[in-house]
Amino acid sequence: MFMTFRHIRKCQCVQLLTTGLVLCVLMVCWEDLDHHVVSHIRSYAYRYLVNRYDFLNSSLFVSSNHRLRKDGPSSASGGLEGYSYIINHPGKCRGGPGKGRANVLLLLFVKSSPENFERRQAIRNTWGNESFVWSELGMSVRLLFALGIHPDVSQRFQVQDALRQEDWAYRDLIQQNFLDTFHNLTVKLIMQFHWNQMYCPQAHFLMTADDDIFVHMPNLVKYLQHLLRSQSGAKDLWVGHIHKGAPPVRLKNSKYYVPYDLYPWPSYPDYTAGAGYVVSGDVATKIYQATLLLNSSLYIDDVFMGMCAKAMGVSPQEHVYFSGEGRAPYHSCIYDHMITSHGHATDVCSLWQQAIYSTASRNSRGFLGNLYCTAVRVMILCRPYFQNTYSCAAAFT
Ligand SMILES: *[C@@H]1O[C@H](CO)[C@@H](O)[C@H](O)[C@H]1NC(C)=O
Ligand SMILES: *[C@@H]1O[C@H](CO)[C@@H](O)[C@H](O)[C@H]1NC(C)=O
Ligand SMILES: *[C@@H]1O[C@H](CO)[C@@H](O)[C@H](O)[C@H]1NC(C)=O
Ligand SMILES: *[C@@H]1O[C@H](CO)[C@@H](O)[C@H](O)[C@H]1NC(C)=O
Repeated sequence: MFMTFRHIRKCQCVQLLTTGLVLCVLMVCWEDLDHHVVSHIRSYAYRYLVNRYDFLNSSLFVSSNHRLRKDGPSSASGGLEGYSYIINHPGKCRGGPGKGRANVLLLLFVKSSPENFERRQAIRNTWGNESFVWSELGMSVRLLFALGIHPDVSQRFQVQDALRQEDWAYRDLIQQNFLDTFHNLTVKLIMQFHWNQMYCPQAHFLMTADDDIFVHMPNLVKYLQHLLRSQSGAKDLWVGHIHKGAPPVRLKNSKYYVPYDLYPWPSYPDYTAGAGYVVSGDVATKIYQATLLLNSSLYIDDVFMGMCAKAMGVSPQEHVYFSGEGRAPYHSCIYDHMITSHGHATDVCSLWQQAIYSTASRNSRGFLGNLYCTAVRVMILCRPYFQNTYSCAAAFT
């Protein structure tokens, strides 16, 4: 009798403890889970049922008296006045000494941070090599690294010195007088569109990219040439990996936290992942105009780009081989089509070698080879729960 009693109590104890533990875990996780799920549901409902982004028209525009103000830059204004250039190359898009504007297919901005010397060097040696594109692909591309100033005062002088030497050697940096921080990325975005408008308005396309992505330059150039040749293809274009109906993050400890007073609505306009996207020249001009009118205090640069585009009536287009987060799987059948891949710092060189090699061998692949590659891509990309680089649809292109 006594034994059974003790036995029961022991069982109940274990049960109680387990229940308590599970509840605790649930309570701790619930806030995150709840926020994530609920914000996405709200956002999708807003995006697909309500789908009005009328608010962009009124409340996010800066008032005209702010626009006309010329008393220096302020982080909460989207006015005409920008930050001043510390390093600049106004002649980058000219044909040469004494010549006029060069015929530039692509103006390529890489968003870099002052201290990322090695990443910039890796890009110059590989996919950012202008001479390679010119000699191998017969097209003119201009590469510029977009920078602010080092946020840490104690290191700034030293880093700035190194930057000047780097620029002396390669002449491919542009730098403005703002702190190079995550929350100033929108300032950097505005700098790029401003620079394009001022010094290279003839470029057929503009691309903006992170310094930790890989760009398959031969594929990108081929794609852009194809667009240029197609009827009206080089107009009204904004292409990349689209985020549709993304909700603002309201968790205070997140990197992407956006308070209600900065953006009160439950859904962002559709935008392309900031890792790398391309716009045509006419869209670049429209975005530039929008940056003069919109309040630029929203510091997530790709979302701000989405707001500018929405305000100007430009919609993003999806390209299955532009990546959002995540790397492209290593396989020559993937290299055949890939445009961008995210999250590379040290392996850019080997990836470039392989991409170049596979471009050379692709032409000799033939019908069976192509069939084989489609099968390989299906096996790599169409696995359940496999996300983040290219979608399954990419296997069939
Ligand atoms: C931009 O928006 C922010 C936050 O909503 C606001 O504090 C600021 O005054 C606005 N700036 C202008 C120039 O309208
Ligand atoms: C860039 O490409 C050219 C032409 O292919 C090549 O001669 C040169 O060595 C390359 N530069 C670098 C830094 O790799
Ligand atoms: C952006 O840069 C400006 C100018 O250097 C600076 O005053 C501001 O604090 C920076 N903003 C952030 C969020 O770092
Ligand atoms: C913004 O509002 C004005 C006036 O209400 C209207 O004429 C204009 O077409 C709107 N612009 C967009 C992009 O919806």
